[in-house]
Amino acid sequence: MDADEMLATTRAVRKRLDPGRAVPAELIRECVDLALQAPAGSNVARTRFVVVRDPGLREQVAAVYSDIYLNQYRDSDGYIGRVAARDADSQQRTARSADALERALHEVGTIVIACLDGVRLDGSPAFASASMLGGVLPATWSFMLAARARGLGTCWTTMHLARERDVAGILGIPFETVQQVCLTPVAFTKGEKFAPAARPGAEEVIHWDRWDDSKAGAPPLSGIARASAS
Ligand SMILES: Cc1cc2nc3c(=O)[nH]c(=O)nc-3n(C[C@H](O)[C@H](O)[C@H](O)COP(=O)(O)O)c2cc1C
Repeated sequence: MDADEMLATTRAVRKRLDPGRAVPAELIRECVDLALQAPAGSNVARTRFVVVRDPGLREQVAAVYSDIYLNQYRDSDGYIGRVAARDADSQQRTARSADALERALHEVGTIVIACLDGVRLDGSPAFASASMLGGVLPATWSFMLAARARGLGTCWTTMHLARERDVAGILGIPFETVQQVCLTPVAFTKGEKFAPAARPGAEEVIHWDRWDDSKAGAPPLSGIARASAS
């Protein structure tokens, strides 16, 4: 697979995660080694990966995810299946896929939580949060690309962060100094062929030289995003 194909086909994998094939720890190490090649502010790697493979701990984390998904998210107006999208059919397929991950997460043998070590960003100025999160997000995406190159599927999720403190307690993550950023299942995929998704064309999102008000704006915030912005 060349780089362009990998970038175009690294999907949010949910229904095609194969819980039946164990992921060797060595593959996770390789993905993390590659992830750490990503840029980091001040050249200091603050990204940490909590790799959860113990069945009892995975189940507890998955139970938190399910509780939020079913009791706070599924019936909210921020639910992926209720968010207006240009391709309604595809949005409904994605919603069914997200529902399927909620049902299957406890079966996935490896759950990885990417964390920012050393600072929490609750209430931080935009400059600080952009700089600090900017040190974790590229590494996390690199981890997912490296996983894809090894036949592994991942899915960026933030659902559990609504009860981040509970997951910190389950896994012994020091909540006051370590912020969880993303949770992803990691499993071999059923089949390795994935297709590019329908996305806006480049011209729809490029503002040449100056901000161009004639370009379509992003859709209004919904659900959790709206609540956190207010
Ligand atoms: C910040 C962020 C948070 C997300 N949270 C969740 C989540 O909690 N649960 C989930 O199933 N997918 C989650 N996703 C995955 C998106 O739904 C997915 O990236 C999107 O539907 C596009 O999927 P595709 O790349 O396969 O086309 C999240 C993605 C991002 C970037």
